[in-house]
Amino acid sequence: MKNFRIACLPGDGIGLEVMSAAQDVLQTAAEIHGGVVFDFTNFPWGSDYYVENGLMMPEDGIRQLKEFDTVFLGAVGNPKLVPDHISLWGMLIKIRRELELSLNVRPARVLRGIDSPLHSPNDFNFIVVRENSEGEYSEAGGVIHNGPDEIAVQNGIFTRKATERAIRYAFKLAKKRGSKVTSATKSNGIVHSMPFWDRIFNEVAAEYPDVETRSVHIDALSAFLVTKPETFDVIVASNLFGDILTDLGGAIMGSIGIAPSANLNPEGKYPSMFEPVHGSAPDIAGQGKANPLGQVWTASMMLDHLGLPELGAAILEACEEVTGEGIKTPDIGGTSSTEEVTAAICSALRKKA
Ligand code: NAI
Ligand code: MG
Repeated sequence: MKNFRIACLPGDGIGLEVMSAAQDVLQTAAEIHGGVVFDFTNFPWGSDYYVENGLMMPEDGIRQLKEFDTVFLGAVGNPKLVPDHISLWGMLIKIRRELELSLNVRPARVLRGIDSPLHSPNDFNFIVVRENSEGEYSEAGGVIHNGPDEIAVQNGIFTRKATERAIRYAFKLAKKRGSKVTSATKSNGIVHSMPFWDRIFNEVAAEYPDVETRSVHIDALSAFLVTKPETFDVIVASNLFGDILTDLGGAIMGSIGIAPSANLNPEGKYPSMFEPVHGSAPDIAGQGKANPLGQVWTASMMLDHLGLPELGAAILEACEEVTGEGIKTPDIGGTSSTEEVTAAICSALRKKA
């Protein structure tokens, strides 16, 4: 029996509802597998914790998380209780930085029974690998002078280490998927960092002669994701470009409530963190309307990472059987509740056993 220790941070709002749903699905997956145990430890960190303790998570929270195999997060934020910049920086960003989660990986594909807003989604199925630690999102720079002479300088930071790490991960992933790699660039307009990015992309590509590659400028790439998304497999992008592409990916899937993500520590030094793309949705919290698919698909990615890809795939297939039958929450045009969708996924999984 293999035991996996999973630190669960449901967070706030619908985070609590979708976490409980995903735990049910994971327990059902463990049952049908027979050889694994998922040992969940729930931490009550988030906005309520802040109101009581003045912190989003305890001082030694990161040390506690380091003891686990993975971290599984719902969503954080309750703007009525805590300003968003505090809830974001006090927990999510702290975890991403201190566990050195330098890559953000987000798949985007059409799930059976879910309408994409695109006219011709053509069963697209791609995955964006975003450099998550530097690039355009840096604190290097400043503002000087006042009035008409005011000047703002914002520096992008591109290190060989982080650039190569993201690109290399994309190639490994492409090799595993038997697919090609597209690099998001803008070397025609950004004349230092992007030619550097291209150079490293070409160096790494030379080590993978059997993987097909192309570089596409980010503006054209964004347009192609709308007009011919089916032509992409693995896309590797800098922090800003990846941020934009992943939101676009979520949008063309049909609802933010289904989009999953992984924040990876590629060296395996610390646990990686898995979280859906959506936030705590205070507008629907506590009403049983939250779509659990984003959290459940995220759980499936977590199982891939834990070396249980068949079980991860079984979960995603069960989700598609359920959406295919029209058992869906209101955000994707259904009338079912969070609990009904979750129960349907669990029973679809049991049928596979
Ligand atoms: P949001 O993602 O929470 O909600 C945006 C819209 O999508 C809302 O109308 C919501 O009802 C809907 N939605 C989101 N997830 C859904 C789901 N699973 N099922 C059905 N509908 C869903 O983003 P918003 O409203 O900008 O932020 C709300 C709070 O969440 C804020 O405090 C924000 O800081 C936080 N947030 C946290 C994130 C995280 O924990 N990773 C990410 C984004 C926002
Ligand atoms: Mg974003």
